Amino acid sequence: MDSIRVQGGIALEGKVRIQGSKNAALPILAACILVRDQVFLENCPRIADVYGMLQILESLGCRARWEKEGLRIDTSNLSDGCMPREAVTGMRSSIFLLGPMLARCGQVELEHPGGCVIGERPIDMHLKALAEMGAVFEENERTTTGRADRLRGADITLSFPSVGATENVLMAAVFAEGTTRIIGAAREPEVQALCEFLNLCGADIRGIGKPVLTVEGGRSLKGCSYRIPADRIVAGTYLLAGFAAGGSIFLEDAPFRHMEAVLDTAEKMGACLAVTREGIYAQCPERAENIPRLRTDVYPGFPTDLQSVLLAVSCTGKGDSIICESIFENRFRVVEDLQSMGAQIERLSEREVRVSGAYRLKGKAVSARELRGGAALTAAALGAEGESVISGRRYIDRGYENIARDLRELGARIVCE
Ligand code: UD1
Repeated sequence: MDSIRVQGGIALEGKVRIQGSKNAALPILAACILVRDQVFLENCPRIADVYGMLQILESLGCRARWEKEGLRIDTSNLSDGCMPREAVTGMRSSIFLLGPMLARCGQVELEHPGGCVIGERPIDMHLKALAEMGAVFEENERTTTGRADRLRGADITLSFPSVGATENVLMAAVFAEGTTRIIGAAREPEVQALCEFLNLCGADIRGIGKPVLTVEGGRSLKGCSYRIPADRIVAGTYLLAGFAAGGSIFLEDAPFRHMEAVLDTAEKMGACLAVTREGIYAQCPERAENIPRLRTDVYPGFPTDLQSVLLAVSCTGKGDSIICESIFENRFRVVEDLQSMGAQIERLSEREVRVSGAYRLKGKAVSARELRGGAALTAAALGAEGESVISGRRYIDRGYENIARDLRELGARIVCE
């Protein structure tokens, strides 16, 4: 029960509702540690990484209950107990526990977080910034241990607008004494969502969406009800999947305001788009016009999380495309599997590939090795001749509630098995 079977070559047609955002939900769940109260997270996605984070929170004494519209979570009784190794090492997002645990319990011991094998993913910026706020860390081969008798506000300058480091500092700063300024903060919509959530709980964060965030610390937080925004990466995945075999699709609730670079790219590739308050309607040609050169970048640039999906649908586009990955060094693991399906991809350097549009890919048995690469193989399979089986569905389930169900709603012939 770990694969997806796809009958390729069928144009997509239909409508699908876009789930809540993984990258917004995970830090917000960690931030619940700071709240000591009940929180209701409407539209929280039911994905493996959220279940993993809940397992960690529950091991610390938090109570969680799924309801029809979302997740109710109560962190009034929390201890600094031992976190389950498998859940911590199984996903990158366990790093979000660093700031909130130091703030609430004064100490934290974390096994090195795992997650997608898309690059080295160091945490030096997280540790340096939290140390500037008064935390002391010790690292050994397996764990990072941190203590902070007192966290104090500070001016933190990030050398790169890291999403995770910005989020960790934000969560610590809300609790710290005095004012924190994060200079060179990440501006990703998911960082904005965390700020909105914390402010709704009573925090005072200013400059949301800007490169300098100012946090007045020391406020006590109270529970709230917050709606997790729709997932721009899932919406982008299905939009780009429209180019696999062509199609006419409606992405209900797609967060178009945060998808500018992706919408712009899709239009350049030949899609006809209509954006309304209800979502995005897209008509995609059977073969995309390949973009001569595309580089992933921090928000509002083209997201690294959609690079592999773009690469997959460019394999059957018209013309050549050079795709440059500027965020993670190991995001081309999907290339070999795409090549086995007939894709013409040349590795130009560690961070750059040239893809030359072939007419059709051939259905094959391929393996997902990480989340977005798995989604990319699924998109490639939709356009391929014949049947494909993608194993390693568990990676895709980390971020997509049910990719097969969603794509079936868009008319694809796809089943989980
Ligand atoms: C990244 C993405 C985010 C995406 C998420 C999940 C960016 C900028 N970030 O967030 O959009 O949703 O993955 O796939 O697109 N780095 C360090 N030291 C650190 C932290 C980061 O060197 O302490 C480097 C990383 O190696 C990487 C870059 O900074 O090259 C971006 O990292 P960061 O934004 O922190 O990654 P995530 O928070 O995982």
